[in-house]
Amino acid sequence: MKFFIDTAIMDEIRDIHAWGVLSGVTTNPSLIVKSGRDFREVITEIAALVGGDISAEVTGLSAQDMVTEGRDLAQWSQHVVVKLPLTPAGLSACRTLTDEGVKTNVTLCFSVPQALLAARAGATYVSPFAGRVDDIGWDGIDLIRQIKEAYLLGGIETQVLAASIRHPQHVVQAALAGADVATVPYKVFTQMVQHPLTDAGIEGFMKDWATLPGAKP
Ligand code: E4P
Repeated sequence: MKFFIDTAIMDEIRDIHAWGVLSGVTTNPSLIVKSGRDFREVITEIAALVGGDISAEVTGLSAQDMVTEGRDLAQWSQHVVVKLPLTPAGLSACRTLTDEGVKTNVTLCFSVPQALLAARAGATYVSPFAGRVDDIGWDGIDLIRQIKEAYLLGGIETQVLAASIRHPQHVVQAALAGADVATVPYKVFTQMVQHPLTDAGIEGFMKDWATLPGAKP
């Protein structure tokens, strides 16, 4: 399973990019607003730093508006993936943009039937929102598992992008459910890397090392 980071904040992206683990970035209108940056400026800056697939979301609601916006977004960088909502208009825009060779991420997916439609509309990625499904008392990880299973049975190449990830266990469960990618918030990356035994191990090694004759304090 690959990792994307789910943010438009450059400091967070730089930090995790430096770990050498990132294959891309996802943004949405709320995350762009949170970054306090100009949309185009921040997307092109992310694309230049990370490369990989950078999702930038349309805000129009009609298929025609989404296609117009998507064509524009795709000009910003070769790394831009146009993010479209899972609505009839979004599916229609996905088909048009896919036929024009533009990569797409069909987002706000909450069911297997929706995911099957996104795939047949040619989506490069489909984004099931695990955390938001959990929030309403359903099982977000089981949704990811079912989508992946249905895709495998149908020989579908659309990649399952586990989104709305809230904690490290979600990441583990998404990987075991067969997600191709997980888009992970900055905070969850920092939680994933932590382990008290790693810290204790380093402390022990450094303490022993310091006993070597001539070791610097
Ligand atoms: C990713 O593409 C989504 O925009 C994001 O994961 C949504 O996460 P949230 O439910 O925490 O807002």
